[in-house]
Amino acid sequence: MVVQAIQYSRFGDEEVLDLVNIKSDSLKVNQVRVEVYAVGLNPIDYKTFEGAKPLRFLSFMTKLRKPSHWFESKSSLFPRGIGRDFAGVITEVGEGVSRFAVGDKVFGTMISDPGLGTKRGALATEICVNESEIVLKPEMIDMNHAATMGVASLTVGGAFRKIELNSKDVVVISAAGGIGSIAVQYAVAKGATVIGIASKKNSDYLKSLGAIPVAYEENIQNALLSASAKPITKFLDCYGSDYVKLAFSLGLKGTAIGTLVPSPYVMIKGAQFTGPRHSTYDDLNTLAEMVSEGKVRLNIDQVYDFSLKSVREAYRSLKLGHTRGKKVVKVRK
Ligand SMILES: NC(=O)c1ccc[n+]([C@@H]2O[C@H](COP(=O)([O-])OP(=O)(O)OC[C@H]3O[C@@H](n4cnc5c(N)ncnc54)[C@H](OP(=O)(O)O)[C@@H]3O)[C@@H](O)[C@H]2O)c1
Repeated sequence: MVVQAIQYSRFGDEEVLDLVNIKSDSLKVNQVRVEVYAVGLNPIDYKTFEGAKPLRFLSFMTKLRKPSHWFESKSSLFPRGIGRDFAGVITEVGEGVSRFAVGDKVFGTMISDPGLGTKRGALATEICVNESEIVLKPEMIDMNHAATMGVASLTVGGAFRKIELNSKDVVVISAAGGIGSIAVQYAVAKGATVIGIASKKNSDYLKSLGAIPVAYEENIQNALLSASAKPITKFLDCYGSDYVKLAFSLGLKGTAIGTLVPSPYVMIKGAQFTGPRHSTYDDLNTLAEMVSEGKVRLNIDQVYDFSLKSVREAYRSLKLGHTRGKKVVKVRK
């Protein structure tokens, strides 16, 4: 069967992306075939197809841990697919699969070593994925919303595990995007007091998620110190290393500061570079349960068609860095 997929064969901006017809993959052990209905976009997607420097650094670190990767040439990894998060219906079950059956509606995320990426990509009409990368879709949400949960569930679950978030914490979370929106609600559901940082225009949005809003256009340090009667105990940065500096300036130890964005400063100062690397498979289910129980609301910023023009436009817009919640590509009409 012919599969339509977004692929690229060299690093660069969205113009390197192409919509191509490819052959169906054959199923490997422990894999299922999924007809894709929707794909949620993440900044890691464009950082990967652009060949961003921090990812090349992570790729180098991964090669130190897994020497077999030294023998991969750049060209052996092209053409590559793009996109990680998806929702769809299982159309075939491979040998060894025990948890899923044909017809199951699922969501998940394609997992790969940091920085290396893989040849696989979720932006396709059909994909083969490992059963450890999917869970059943909650009945009460549609495919578009389900496609927003993969990376976010593993990132938030992993990050809060690493910084040991608990109900007594007062946690600062930067950003109202795909990860920040979920992190805020997740921490509120865990009983923590949450202070959210975003632009002024997102203050009401952050309040609606359960956070005390602080606008980054103001003197953030003063605003943070006066936001809560109780002292700040944890910080999760979903934006970049200036927030890690800010977290240290609030008197927090490196073990109490998590960041999703790696940098030499973060490593040297002993803050925690975290996210999916500290996740477990159950984190996918935990977010699905929270959504089913109404504890977490999934916010879609915009839905795009599965055409080359729309996908390029979606990434161009995501790169501007002001997405509220998630951008989704509707693959199946
Ligand atoms: N470690 C990992 O494995 C991992 C996993 C997931 C994500 N990440 C990384 O984490 C980052 C966030 O991901 P995401 O999906 O949430 O991105 P995103 O959806 O693109 O984030 C957009 C949000 O960032 C906010 N923002 C922009 N400038 C800001 C500033 N100066 N201070 C605070 N917030 C600001 C925007 O709010 P305003 O519109 O109000 O400015 C917007 O809501 C990305 O760099 C991503 O690559 C890493």
